[in-house]
Amino acid sequence: MSDGREASLPCTFVIFGATGNLATNKLLPALYHLEAAARLSESLSIIAFSRRPWNDDEWRNHMREVLAEKIKGAPGTPVFERFVARFRYQQGDLNDVASYQALADRLPPAEACSSTVFYLAIKPSEFGAVIHNLEAVGLNKPRGLNRVVIEKPFGEDIESARMLNQLLHEHFDEEQVFRIDHFLGKETVQNLLVFRFANTLIEPLWNRNFIDHVQITVAESIGIEKRADYYDRAGALRDMLQNHLMQLLTVVAMEPPPALEADALHDEKVKVLRSIRPIAKRAVHAHAVRAQYARGMIDGANVPGYQQEEKVEPNSITETFVAAKFYIDNWRWRGVPFYLRTGKRMQRQTSMIALRFRHPPQQLFRETPLESIDPNWILLSIQPDESMRMEIHVKQPGLDMDTRLMQMNASFLKTDEQTLDAYETLLLDVIEGDRSLFLRFDEVEWAWRVVDPILKNWTVEREYIPTYPAGSWGPAEANRLFDSDDQTWRNEL
Ligand code: BG6
Repeated sequence: MSDGREASLPCTFVIFGATGNLATNKLLPALYHLEAAARLSESLSIIAFSRRPWNDDEWRNHMREVLAEKIKGAPGTPVFERFVARFRYQQGDLNDVASYQALADRLPPAEACSSTVFYLAIKPSEFGAVIHNLEAVGLNKPRGLNRVVIEKPFGEDIESARMLNQLLHEHFDEEQVFRIDHFLGKETVQNLLVFRFANTLIEPLWNRNFIDHVQITVAESIGIEKRADYYDRAGALRDMLQNHLMQLLTVVAMEPPPALEADALHDEKVKVLRSIRPIAKRAVHAHAVRAQYARGMIDGANVPGYQQEEKVEPNSITETFVAAKFYIDNWRWRGVPFYLRTGKRMQRQTSMIALRFRHPPQQLFRETPLESIDPNWILLSIQPDESMRMEIHVKQPGLDMDTRLMQMNASFLKTDEQTLDAYETLLLDVIEGDRSLFLRFDEVEWAWRVVDPILKNWTVEREYIPTYPAGSWGPAEANRLFDSDDQTWRNEL
């Protein structure tokens, strides 16, 4: 790294919520991997901010303990010890301005350091307090330089999102704000742009003339882990659909941007969101299904139902599964349903985008053993493996006219390559100040607008929520969203 570039990089990275789920599971491992790849500048120091009464050494021991599980084999190695040595610990209360003053006192003076990153790995209900308190002790300055990273959900509905944004803009300039949606850092999602726009073969087919419908599934086998205090208020619609799944939808549906720059990308994504047909109040039932997991089995083990999870309200009707149907009323997509679903405690962890093509004309094969030919699919797997496949028909060798379905695999990973975790890509972007994979507020606002009718309806209808057994593919009700009988959820690649 050249000296000039190094001088413009932030010299401190502060993690609020350092002992929480997100920091432990995602941020610390991602930062470690950046360390191992020699992508962190030597002068970067990291401050872990949390409530526990620890000193630097106690925090470092905590890291050794929790990361031993996450990054096997790393603790004890010189790279790991170099990583741990970057950290200092700041004990503090998010609501107490004195804690921020103590933090400020530990930061290098402005003349010695270009900027600081503040990562809010905390509950959305705590964002406001942190933003206020950072400003109160002058940590929003230097304006334009110090950065604040905000996790999703950005607000809990359209009104609160606007208020949060206003608060941010009172104290920070827009270029200081990084609204993160980590799904945009996933390789397949980024590769989707290349797949669509760098292949002449694909783009002409990517529209209503050829595509029957699109499915976006993000199924998780994990439950809510220890996040009831956040999750029970949020539910799957706010936690996953309004942000991650909506972002996937925009990347599938957008027009080619004139350049891969932040604003050009955001403009195209916003156009998609603005073209989504608003769901009328009376149509919510036809467009959205919610459900909650009941007891069941995952990988041969009994798991509790949602209501039996620690700290969940006994009669909670928070949804852990949501499926919804949207139409994008523009020239490319008019009439093509986009089916989105996500759930916790489903049979397997699978995230994929599946595009089903229209049926080919059957007439040609009418006097052959082929009664009907299944349509083609394009399948983009995001998790657990990243791959791209196309399903096409070929004739089975033999005397009869029979076909066989073949998968053409366009996987982009070679056997000796490993994909990066989304957070590695995005943390590096924060450090280097590249905002193209972060959200502009109008994207967030339009995504809230799209789900707002569903949210409002569910807030009022609070008597009942269907359940699905943990370990299943969700409730049978999710099938009622389909426009025609030959459409079904695709669970397998
Ligand atoms: C987070 C949600 O944003 O994404 C979690 O809050 C969810 O509930 C997680 O488990 C899924 O992300 P990934 O990258 O592990 O699939």
